[in-house]
Amino acid sequence: MAKGKTTAFFCKECGYESVKWLGQCPGCREWNTFVEEPVVKAKSKGITGTILSGGRAKPSPVSEISIDEEDRILTDIGELDRVLGGGLVKGSLILVGGDPGIGKSTLLLQACRHLAATGRRVLYISGEESLKQIKLRANRLGEFSDNLLLLCETNLQRMEEAIKETLPEVVIVDSIQTIYNEDVESAPGSVSQVRESTNKLMQLAKGLTISVFIVGHVTKEGVVAGPRVLEHMVDTVLYFEGDRHASYRILRGVKNRFGSTNEIGVFEMREDGLCEVKNPSEFMLDGRPENASGSVVACSVEGTRPILVEIQALVSKTNFGMPRRTAAGTDYNRVNLLMAVLEKRLGYPLSDYDAYVNIAGGLKISEPALDLGIVIAIISSYRDQIIDEGTICFGEVGLSGEVRAVSNPEQRVSEAVKLGFKTCIMPQVSLENIKKPQGIKLIGIKNIKDLHR
Ligand code: TYD
Ligand code: MG
Repeated sequence: MAKGKTTAFFCKECGYESVKWLGQCPGCREWNTFVEEPVVKAKSKGITGTILSGGRAKPSPVSEISIDEEDRILTDIGELDRVLGGGLVKGSLILVGGDPGIGKSTLLLQACRHLAATGRRVLYISGEESLKQIKLRANRLGEFSDNLLLLCETNLQRMEEAIKETLPEVVIVDSIQTIYNEDVESAPGSVSQVRESTNKLMQLAKGLTISVFIVGHVTKEGVVAGPRVLEHMVDTVLYFEGDRHASYRILRGVKNRFGSTNEIGVFEMREDGLCEVKNPSEFMLDGRPENASGSVVACSVEGTRPILVEIQALVSKTNFGMPRRTAAGTDYNRVNLLMAVLEKRLGYPLSDYDAYVNIAGGLKISEPALDLGIVIAIISSYRDQIIDEGTICFGEVGLSGEVRAVSNPEQRVSEAVKLGFKTCIMPQVSLENIKKPQGIKLIGIKNIKDLHR
């Protein structure tokens, strides 16, 4: 008799499902991420179109759908509001992912504090900390209004009852990996639990027009499913990153159905909680070395905001046949490519040299506009030539060494002016299209060969 299969294997990184165990996940290419779990016969129906279309199961013309401008709630934490796309959308489901201990609970509790202070009812559900522990943390952050309700609960059904009873405007669920749904057999934190619970929360959010924040820990070991499993289900995905040893934290929008992605918010972790960093460029350029070769400032645009970063390169003669290359904060392959371009087009014998490239400050940026900065930093280090402190650059470098246009040149230049830079090296094409501001000398180049003029 054929036995119905009751378990399957799931990737705990991305949720890929397979009937047999696999060493490498075909979905996300991660190794050793498959765990065996019972297959769920979903009792919940998923979010039905009726919930999304507000109770009507009938197609409607776009022009007839009304939107209220007030559908956004401001959290009063400017950096968070911007990453959310201009405030919190009512009835949206937001996933906040990040390493344990990075400050997710702190950020959300602070957001709760502001929301409660403006008279909104907020429910903070924790499955990780006791009421006392939350209170201790809250004491460090300041006074809290009585509009903030706390609940320690891991059972999803009881959580649902509490939400329906109190009818808050905003709910925080900290964390999704501790939640237990009775309808699903597997342990809390497993792929199916995490998915089913999120589905349920999605129904609640859309059905009752409550904004729900879900905290998800990024995990490397164990069988706990990571937040990537949920990315496709939720409206907005934010990742909280940063070096745990450094004090600043970066909140990055990875997916947003209601705003632009790649938007970043910068915070600093202090004694009394997270503090917004209003001018990240200043923050990133703090402590720049003076008169050092291999250092240059480049301008990147993250989301809608320009950010200046220092690019450092160290090029030194290699002792082995195979030169070492590392890239911290930027794409390793991109650095290799740019070095090959430099070798071929400008004739630098870089295959005999080790090269280390670093974005100072710990920000991770993959924007091609940093190419020119990386190239200049490498040349500067190789020739041991100091780049003037007041110089900034941006531009994409192509395989034949051509310097290509990048988006938002005007915004980049004005950020440079704001921070007192005197010279800007940029793509010639971009230079022709922008208004020339006062107080900065713009140098347009067409090819990296022009750097030798
Ligand atoms: P937490 O929000 O608990 O992290 P997560 O929820 O992402 O796991 O943050 C914990 C860290 O933040 C902890 O190492 C202590 C630090 N912290 C401060 O430095 N200042 C503060 O005011 C608070 C509340 C926490
Ligand atoms: Mg926490």
